[in-house]
Amino acid sequence: MKVKIVHLSDIHTANPHFLPEMALEVVERINEINPEIVIITGDLTESGYPFEFKCAKSYIEKINCASKVIIPGNHDVRHVGDLCFEEIFGSRSKVRRYKGITIVGIDSTQPDIDDGHIGRDKYEWIEKCFDTDDFKIFALHHHLMPVPFTGRERNIPVDAGDVLELLVRCKVDLVLSGHKHVPWVWNLDGMTILNAGTACTNRMKWSIPQSFNLIELDSEMLRIYKIYSKGGHELILEKPHNFVVRG
Ligand SMILES: [Fe+2]
Ligand SMILES: [Fe+2]
Repeated sequence: MKVKIVHLSDIHTANPHFLPEMALEVVERINEINPEIVIITGDLTESGYPFEFKCAKSYIEKINCASKVIIPGNHDVRHVGDLCFEEIFGSRSKVRRYKGITIVGIDSTQPDIDDGHIGRDKYEWIEKCFDTDDFKIFALHHHLMPVPFTGRERNIPVDAGDVLELLVRCKVDLVLSGHKHVPWVWNLDGMTILNAGTACTNRMKWSIPQSFNLIELDSEMLRIYKIYSKGGHELILEKPHNFVVRG
């Protein structure tokens, strides 16, 4: 059995950067993929205002998937947007388990600050959530490792080093993040670190097109594809992996 997970990020549903027609194309592409899980790593809005969250919700609702894991980005917690986020999408940090996959989504934001921060108070909870033989996914908005083609490094979580050590020790398989609007994949001690581009905005870096990620897991392989929002795709990682579907 193959499990398909879509990783979407930085949809920024508000003018002047949001591209509504492209957002509908992205929804259509995701529904064609028909994933079991959709993970959205933040920046649903531009400024955290209620009308922006309602707009984001209207697009996310069009995605046909029963299991969506949504966490906030730095733009979502501007202007007390963290309270709007919680009203619409539930708690800012969460754990979900699905047929042998454990997903821990962490809020890496602070109100009205762009810098990332996970915080020592969350480490014990993260470790407990990952005390399992499942395929382990850690999702957050901010990038834990620098991403090329993004200019001067900034906003990386202030405790990125300690969090990376924790995740490697917990034998996390896959880390998902956004924020930089550039897709990229790193390998750190066998842990795959995957950044998503912006899916449907004109906040692009250089000529790097809008995209989202598709993760495919079966009993033998982990495959990751970059899906371009305007069409086409590219295999960006393929590695042997022994995944056992449960439940
Ligand atoms: Fe963003
Ligand atoms: Fe961001």
